[in-house]
Amino acid sequence: MEGRPTPESMLEALDSAKRTALALIEEALAEEDPAGVLESIRLRFLGKKGEVSLILKSMGSLSAEARPAVGQAANATRDAIESALARAKDTAEGAALDRELRAPPIDVSLPGRPVELGRRHPVSRTGEEVVRVFERMGFKVASGPEIEGDFYNFEALNIPAEHPARDMQDTFYLASGHPVAATLHDGTRGPEPGEVLLRTHTSPVQVRSMLRSPPPIRIVCPGKVYRRDSDLTHTPMFHQIEGLWVDRQVTMADLKGTLQLFATSFFGKDTRVRLRPSYFQFTEPSAEVDVSCTLCGGSGASRSEMEGHEDAGQGNGSIAGKPPQTGPCKTCSGTGWLEILGAGMVDPAVFEAVGYDPDTWSGFAFGMGIDRVAMLRYRIDDLRMLFENDARFLDQFP
Ligand code: PHE
Repeated sequence: MEGRPTPESMLEALDSAKRTALALIEEALAEEDPAGVLESIRLRFLGKKGEVSLILKSMGSLSAEARPAVGQAANATRDAIESALARAKDTAEGAALDRELRAPPIDVSLPGRPVELGRRHPVSRTGEEVVRVFERMGFKVASGPEIEGDFYNFEALNIPAEHPARDMQDTFYLASGHPVAATLHDGTRGPEPGEVLLRTHTSPVQVRSMLRSPPPIRIVCPGKVYRRDSDLTHTPMFHQIEGLWVDRQVTMADLKGTLQLFATSFFGKDTRVRLRPSYFQFTEPSAEVDVSCTLCGGSGASRSEMEGHEDAGQGNGSIAGKPPQTGPCKTCSGTGWLEILGAGMVDPAVFEAVGYDPDTWSGFAFGMGIDRVAMLRYRIDDLRMLFENDARFLDQFP
């Protein structure tokens, strides 16, 4: 458009813009992916500074009579280009979809590169299996903090400050920290935790459970415990599971029956249990509990000595027909028994510390080392191997 635009020249320009645009759109459809080209056509004609827009803007210079006709023509041109663009876009999208559907399907047959699945640690597996046996007897699992307060780990368990029994559980004390006070069953705060330490046994979980809920109670508490100890049979961290059963008239017979049922469920039906007198501050009377040796079946004879005999290695513990012993069993050092746990009747002083009436309630508690049970189960002779995380060692367990 040269000079002052006339209505005629503008109508002509609109007509030419429309024809050019439609031709370009037609051409664009031949492209593989016309979206970009279509957008540039839109900008060239309909954009702010596009050809049609400029014509519309210059209408101000027309006479009032000429304006409507040119305006209408400009709008019609814009509409025509817009709808041609929309149709072209539809067509292009349809074509793209068509191409995709006709293309050969994605080949998913390339073999994967599998990552070998890990496995449960022998200690975790053993702990879970022990828990499962007690769950079948109606025990619920309870847990508590590993960073404990003196009150829950010692004081409430009838082990006062300066008591020599504390030496047996050589304790890691922490310089600072805030062990939480127990929450009582009415939602209020339990006794102050006192000095901060790593729990030396899982018994504080029993204290917390009794503070939290009134009797009766039947729980097992598996978890990590810590003592300053390190040699062939001790690591500074190890695993315990403790049990607690409080009800009316619970007796030592219930304790023995429960442990006997555990032993046969866990180690095999011929396993026998024996209680020996012992001492713990929180139980009275107390006992060390042995099971008949899982390796020699209680005979005390080494396996190699038993091989070749008819009832060898069946773990039936029968003394009659015992093969001649020329060497002691290594697992039980020839005694025929394996010590696996400590137990006893809950001391009335513990009940008093947690607000249970010792005249109404009685109960038993027991505690065993999960690691030791795992060693017996898998015949591992060095406890430390369990915690070195050597995959060559761990891979040997199913
Ligand atoms: N808490 C004891 C310990 O760790 C084990 C135990 C628990 C003994 C319950 C008796 C009763 O040595």
